[in-house]
Amino acid sequence: MSKIGIQVKTLAFGSLLAPLLFASFSAQAGSAGNWKDGAQVYEKVCGQCHETDGDIGVILAGRQLPPAYTQLIVRNGLRAMPAFAASFIDDKALQNVSEYIQKMPAKGKE
Ligand code: HEC
Repeated sequence: MSKIGIQVKTLAFGSLLAPLLFASFSAQAGSAGNWKDGAQVYEKVCGQCHETDGDIGVILAGRQLPPAYTQLIVRNGLRAMPAFAASFIDDKALQNVSEYIQKMPAKGKE
């Protein structure tokens, strides 16, 4: 991934996508603690950016990312990825989604 690519993504994300995405998150999720399971968090939140290659975020499926790593990034953010507070994704839901991501099989096709 080129440096320029990252900068362009960051710009586009900051100016356009963030407000739109957050508006739809809050409409879908209600308040903290309402998450059914890790799959639901992934589908409603993470997948918005991480589901497809060439999308905003990188592919997470099939990489066996350690849950502790995923949790750190979700709480702190990483460049173009916003941080998610416990008031939105509580600790239990974050643990669930991290374990779910670790076990996700690699996608054969999109
Ligand atoms: C608004 C878009 C967006 C959402 C929503 C989002 N991410 Fe990200 N995420 C990104 C971007 C962009 C990056 C790459 C940041 C970079 O490297 O510049 C990233 C990177 C990551 C990484 C690091 C991947 C690596 O290769 O090391 C992890 C882990 C991650 N996200 C997990 C999650 C999880 C879990 C969720 C859901 C709770 C989530 N993300 C939601 C945009 C998003």
